[in-house]
Amino acid sequence: MTEHEIKINFKSYNAISELDAADQQLCAEAVKAQQGSHSPYSKFRVGAALRLQSGKIIYGSNQENVAYPSGLCAERVALFNWGANHSDDPIEAIAVTASTDEFELLQPVASCGACLQVLAEYERKQGSAIKMLLYCQGGPVWVATGVESFLPFLFFEDRLK
Ligand code: THU
Repeated sequence: MTEHEIKINFKSYNAISELDAADQQLCAEAVKAQQGSHSPYSKFRVGAALRLQSGKIIYGSNQENVAYPSGLCAERVALFNWGANHSDDPIEAIAVTASTDEFELLQPVASCGACLQVLAEYERKQGSAIKMLLYCQGGPVWVATGVESFLPFLFFEDRLK
């Protein structure tokens, strides 16, 4: 038996004002993206914004459905839009934020495993890591570059061989 330990590394900033101007702006774009949220069931509005190398911003928000599993997270709505329409313009960074009228969020929302797996696919496709900004409005921002910081055991194509 061998025991293994994996360390992950991310930065936590106390407030959005500690980020550089471009990343502050991307967090503001994620807040804007929340306006498109369709979340009548969870009442949890999630917004995601991608900044592409050209400077273009792609928005996504969570889209729920009365047949619950048919819904999709904000991150994948934005990422699949990129994959379908903008994949010649690499993703530099993604900002994600959430809010609800039901309670106050004190920490950023961490993307689910399925969204991280999709991010990993596109990091491989474009050949460069994506900066992730997980933004709690009025609170901290967690930042890491490369999805492996949040999902160390990814499923990759070589596992199919
Ligand atoms: N959700 C996201 O959009 N992104 C996340 O990172 C976590 C969860 C959505 C899915 C669902 O519409 C609602 O938040 C509650 O889970």
